[in-house]
Amino acid sequence: MVFQTLIGTDPAKAAQWLLDGECVAIPTETVYGLAANALNAAAVVRIFEIKNRPAFDPLIVHVSGLEQAERYAASLPAPLRTLAERFWPGPLTILVPKRDLIPDLVTSGLPQVALRAPAHPVTQALLRALHFPLAAPSANPFGYISPTTAQHVYDQLQNKIPYILDGGPCKVGVESTIVGYEKQETVIYRLGGLELETIEQIAGPVRLDIRQNSHPAAPGMLTTHYAPRKPLYLVEDDRWPATAAQKTGILTFQAKTGLPGHALHIVLSETGDLAEAAQQLFAALRTLDQNAGIDVILAEPCPDKGLGRAINDRLRRAAIPVAK
Ligand code: TXA
Ligand code: MG
Repeated sequence: MVFQTLIGTDPAKAAQWLLDGECVAIPTETVYGLAANALNAAAVVRIFEIKNRPAFDPLIVHVSGLEQAERYAASLPAPLRTLAERFWPGPLTILVPKRDLIPDLVTSGLPQVALRAPAHPVTQALLRALHFPLAAPSANPFGYISPTTAQHVYDQLQNKIPYILDGGPCKVGVESTIVGYEKQETVIYRLGGLELETIEQIAGPVRLDIRQNSHPAAPGMLTTHYAPRKPLYLVEDDRWPATAAQKTGILTFQAKTGLPGHALHIVLSETGDLAEAAQQLFAALRTLDQNAGIDVILAEPCPDKGLGRAINDRLRRAAIPVAK
């Protein structure tokens, strides 16, 4: 299907397309989502087609809050309920047993569904107005950098969707933290916009089980994720090359490096603020990826705490592994 894609700020237009079984892009505080009626399998199929996403990669289901979550979860383990009470709406996704009315396609056949109540006021209002929840992965082609503005969505999905609901630049800038509960333990499966330290203050110690691939039945099928098209190398422990050998773009957290000869240098936060760095990360990667004067990207990890963990996770997934 070919659409004349509109960017607009009218939630009623987005709602109408969703009621018609189409997909639209919606703003959230983390990244833009590509949304469809989660209870309509035909609409959900369109998400996979538009994104070119493999069917084994399940989708997050967006709800307005706990009350709606209870309609789609067969049960809510107490620790996850506590986290949702404390941090919803916000960048927290919980993995819970699903009810039958969530199509198997949404969870790629898994018995659990990922639920999240996003904090963006426009999307909150949209979710409250609809009588169904919204399945929504990030609104980018599979494997590419997630979009944090309506324009990012347009650049890649124009003509594929009828409407992009513009809610301004995303405030958090990295995807939600995915949390589950297994064998009496709170487990983080994806580091994201809600810091591990903040979760531990409420839930106690958590176990990290960061997966390259969400589907346990399909190990190793995803190599890179969140990746620019140009090769990106991580510069660990300040081991910068002596000079920039090629047309090099540089991404650093706070410091200006001395590496001479580079084409463009983006600093994520001059004041060393991890929240600002997270908010800037994906737009910066896009800028470097699209700059015609750059062949190679060199990126420095952030301090490995708070939101820095999520930033570094995304950079590592984007990077080309270097032989040690
Ligand atoms: O912040 C976010 O979470 C954004 C916005 C749009 O809400 N969404 C997002 O969706 O990042 P996506 O599709 O790019 O990532 C969803 C990931 C899947 O790749 C998988 O790792 C995990 O969530 N996931 C979803 N459903 C799952 C399930 N039933 N079991 C295990 N993992 C699941
Ligand atoms: Mg994604």
